[in-house]
Formats: sequence, structure tokens, C-alpha cells
Amino acid sequence: MTLSKQSMSQARVLVVGDVMLDRYWYGAVDRISPEAPVPVVRITREEERNGGAANVAYNVVTLGAQASLLTVVGADEASHKLEALVAQTGIRTHFGRDADLKTTVKLRVIGRQQQLLRLDFENTPKSEILASQTATFTQLLPQHDAVLFSDYGKGGLAHVGDMIGQARALGKPILIDPKGSDYSRYQQASVITPNRAELQQVIGAWSDEADLRTKAHNLRTQLKLDAVLLTRSEEGMTLFDADGQLHVSAQAREVFDVTGAGDTVIATMATLVAAGLTLREALPLANRAGGLVVGKFGTATVSYEELFA
Ligand SMILES: Nc1ncnc2c1ncn2[C@@H]1O[C@H](COP(=O)(O)OP(=O)(O)OP(=O)(O)O)[C@@H](O)[C@H]1O
Ligand SMILES: [Mg+2]
Repeated sequence: MTLSKQSMSQARVLVVGDVMLDRYWYGAVDRISPEAPVPVVRITREEERNGGAANVAYNVVTLGAQASLLTVVGADEASHKLEALVAQTGIRTHFGRDADLKTTVKLRVIGRQQQLLRLDFENTPKSEILASQTATFTQLLPQHDAVLFSDYGKGGLAHVGDMIGQARALGKPILIDPKGSDYSRYQQASVITPNRAELQQVIGAWSDEADLRTKAHNLRTQLKLDAVLLTRSEEGMTLFDADGQLHVSAQAREVFDVTGAGDTVIATMATLVAAGLTLREALPLANRAGGLVVGKFGTATVSYEELFA
């Protein structure tokens, strides 16, 4: 299956969900603190990256398609940093600001080539701001070809059910990267893309492939989904749909950094579906994208050229 760069560039994906700022502070460790038995890190370099739904949207534009990002952030320094970082990639930003919200930041402190500490800043957004996001969603929806919900469990998708209903009514494909143990709010989506641990949390452990198949199809029917796409790390991925299931084996040649592979997979699926491919047609390409991204250090995106090489 191939797709021209031209048709890819016309695909428009609306990404909605929890964004975060991935922050890295690198420094030198020369001594132990006189205050407590901990190392003193003298920071020499800082790095910032798009995280969560922002990374998903970044994957869409790296593929050469168009992405809009709808999210709620705080009114803090991190939110402005993140918005600038996102806007710089060509993603259209629709950031709602909640003054009581701390923008989600994951700050890693790295000294002597190793991570010494990770600090997480986060809290849950206010419902009024989230309600205003739903109104923005209604306006944005007609100008997009697919909707992607990136749920990182930070509370930004409290109104996801409502938004799914609207997208369904307009016949837009709906792809969801789920979180948590209650998937009832994802009812009527086109496809959800849990990893193994996430799916297990919802359907329980499976004893073998036949058992997995039964459980996955039950979930699909119960939630009225078109499909469930299980991403299985080194085992590749399996799509369960009305016609049965389709499995593709993992493609990675070398594995350096597995973080963000799930983001790349759902972003690729959404982009290709927005460009007119079916889930089954998009599946092997999304798997290829996942395999490519785990072979990269740092950057967690795949280009059009790499995908179709
Ligand atoms: N170790 C690996 N070897 C080969 N391919 C891999 C590996 N890990 C991930 N992949 C590829 O990436 C896809 C998504 O990975 P995975 O199932 O780990 O998602 P995830 O747990 O959601 O990832 P994330 O860390 O982004 O949350 C897999 O289906 C596969 O195509
Ligand atoms: Mg994931």
C-alpha cells in the first residue's frame, strides 16, 4: 500500500488530549551535598520536547500531514514553552488556559550519564475550561478528516464521550489511545489502541491467543467499536475487527529507545485513515513506523520518506 506525498499532505488530523512538556536537565556531579546525602548536580544543559498528545501531533506533521492540537494547559511558564515548541513544528495550536492548572511537566535530572531523579508536576483541569474545549471541538471538527484522542489519564478528556458522539454524527474516523480501567467513555469510537498492560487491565489476563481473541471481540462488541488494535511491543500488533483479526509481526531491526512507539503507531494510523486508507490497510504501515521509531535515539517521529522507503 502506498500513498502519494500529495494526498498525505492533505490529510487533516484533529488531536485532542493531555499534553506534557518533557524536560531534561543535564549537569555535572562533582560533590555530595552538605545538606543531605545526595549528589549536587550543576546544570550545564537543558532540553525540552513535546510530550503526550503534543508528541502524537508532532508525529502527524512529521509524516507530512496536517495536525491541529486541542488541549488544556496551565497559565504557567511551562505552558508557554510548550505552546511555542508545538507551534514551531507547524501544528495548529488550540490551547485552553486554566490558571489553577499546573501544566504537566516531566523533569528528568541527568548527571554522569544517568537519570538521577524525575520530577512530575501535574493536577486535574477544571470542568468549565474543559466544557469550553468541547465548543472549540465542535468548530474544528468539520475541517478535519480524522479525530485522535490521546488519553494520558491527566483529566483533559472528561468530555470525550460527547466529542465521540459529534465525530460519529459527521462520519469522522475516531482513534483513541486509552488509559485506565473504565473504557465505557470510549463507546462508539472507530478503534482503540491499548498496549498489552492496558488491555489486560480491562479484559483481564488471557491464557492463549484464542482466549485473547474472544476477550478482545467481546470488548469490541460491548463498546460498539469498529476495532480494537492491540500493540504488543516486540510481538508486533493485532487488529480485531468485524471480519476477524489481522496480525503483523514486529519489524524493528535494532531497538534503542521504545518510549513513544505507541504515540507513533496511533499517529500513523490516524494520518493514513485521514488520507483515505482503511484500518487494515494502515496497519502494516503503522507497525513499520513503530519499528522505525524504536530504532532511534531521542527523536520519536518518522517521516513520509522513511515510512514509504
Ligand atoms: N521492542 C520492540 N521491538 C520491535 N518493535 C517494537 C518494540 N517495541 C515497540 N515496537 C513497535 O512499536 C509498536 C508499539 O509499541 P508498544 O506496544 O510498546 O506501545 P506502547 O506501550 O503504547 O508504547 P509507549 O511507550 O509509547 O506507550 C509495536 O506494536 C511495534 O510495532
Ligand atoms: Mg502507549
